[in-house]
Amino acid sequence: MSQKVTRRQFLNYSLMGVGSFMAAGVILPMGRFALDPLFQEEASGSMITTSVSADDITEEPVKVDFSYEQQDGWYVSEVTDFVWVYRDGEDIIALSPVCKHLGCTVTWAGDEANPNRFFCPCHNGLYEKNGKNVPGTPPRGPLDQYEVGVSDGYITIGEMKANELVN
Ligand code: FES
Repeated sequence: MSQKVTRRQFLNYSLMGVGSFMAAGVILPMGRFALDPLFQEEASGSMITTSVSADDITEEPVKVDFSYEQQDGWYVSEVTDFVWVYRDGEDIIALSPVCKHLGCTVTWAGDEANPNRFFCPCHNGLYEKNGKNVPGTPPRGPLDQYEVGVSDGYITIGEMKANELVN
């Protein structure tokens, strides 16, 4: 017994097939667009090479700029930041310039009365050279520290971490 497909059935099947194909063409890219950031590889743990020679680092803290790509959802931008870097014997130390009180930028020897300390001009915050906050000034914690290294003679900057120099 043969089964005949009516013209109406054929039209229905054809429209369902074409409709499904078109829907998949729209939905699949949207799903990929929505989920793609979840599958991006994290670039954590990588060190950023700066343009500052390790030979130029002395016991006096200096600003060292570093740039990195920052991803905000789908928007990728180049961000330039800096750390305070100095030499402590064989070690190289990198400290965050962000004040632990309200986030202003600290400067090295920015206060004439405290030439060997970091100074925050916003509320007269003070930090020792190792980042320890000076009691009696507004900051309640030490400056954060950064992973730091040397690659081909140049300073490299890594992840920010809690200050390990201060007990
Ligand atoms: S923000 Fe630095 S002392 Fe207030």
